[in-house]
Amino acid sequence: MKDLIQRLVESFGPSGYETAVTDTIRELVAPHADDISIDALGNLLVWKKGSSDRTIMFSAHTDEIGVVVTHVDENGFLRFSNVGGLDSQTLVGNRVRFASGTIGVIGREKGSLKDLSIEKMFLDIGAPTRDEAQKQVRVGDFGIIHREFVDLGQRMAAKSMDDRIGCVVLIETLKRIGSRSAHNVCFVFSSQEEVGLRGARTAAFAVNPDLGIAVDVTRTGDTPEAARMDVSLGKGAAIKIKDSSLVAHPKVRSLMTNLAEHHGIKHQFEVLERGGTDAGVIHITHEGVPSGTISIPCRYVHSASEMVDIGDVEACIQLAEAICQAELTEFPAKSK
Ligand code: CO
Ligand code: ZN
Repeated sequence: MKDLIQRLVESFGPSGYETAVTDTIRELVAPHADDISIDALGNLLVWKKGSSDRTIMFSAHTDEIGVVVTHVDENGFLRFSNVGGLDSQTLVGNRVRFASGTIGVIGREKGSLKDLSIEKMFLDIGAPTRDEAQKQVRVGDFGIIHREFVDLGQRMAAKSMDDRIGCVVLIETLKRIGSRSAHNVCFVFSSQEEVGLRGARTAAFAVNPDLGIAVDVTRTGDTPEAARMDVSLGKGAAIKIKDSSLVAHPKVRSLMTNLAEHHGIKHQFEVLERGGTDAGVIHITHEGVPSGTISIPCRYVHSASEMVDIGDVEACIQLAEAICQAELTEFPAKSK
């Protein structure tokens, strides 16, 4: 599974430009899926047919935070804007990679330690003039943070664990349910989450599920002097109670809790004070969808080195698989 994680987290996929990621996932899931399609926004929809009349939608986003070039100056330095919630405190000294493979170093203007805003930063791709720079990068090009995956044993760190690790959870769940799916399941690998849950919005409309589950990372409160939060690395799948985008449906919350207890899946509960996931738009599609989120605990979210625990990833897969095989009597099929 670590090879799969490395392959996905090292892929290029800023919001709106997720094709490299969806191409890889498509290839990986093809032998296990009943139907695969890509919609106009770049969502990859992977279906597994089941025996009941119920449809479950899982969603994990393929996009990652990044930058977009706004200006190239006469000395070849690039200015940039954020794509999604880039943390400006983590940027200086990091590198940015463009789709072409060009790499730039992030520098900053003098005095900008007091004002670490992106406007005071620039990208240096080693080009001495505007003309030379523009042979490699143009205004409007999207880039991502360039950082390799590192295997720390029980834990792993990489850029874009948010949310390629969620994509891994969905891929593994699909593989494990094999031909035994009780319900129709649509695994959505959604686009443009980081710029406002956009892909999941249209995907949820198309799928019109009876139960919606996002799988995404969440913050932890287990590092020195961390903001208070009752989620830790290594304590299992985090069952979301609430974030800024969603109050998890009480029936979904108890479904997950009961399944975790019944199957002995390591779990914890998550109240996230700021932030949201695809479930934020899934639950308000059509006439409403009971929804919840399985969260993968992650340290240093939105930095170049997001850290997760392999045991937590495994627990999330087990919980997702248990949902696929549950009776779901509390979630009757809508008349569609
Ligand atoms: Co994110
Ligand atoms: Zn995310």
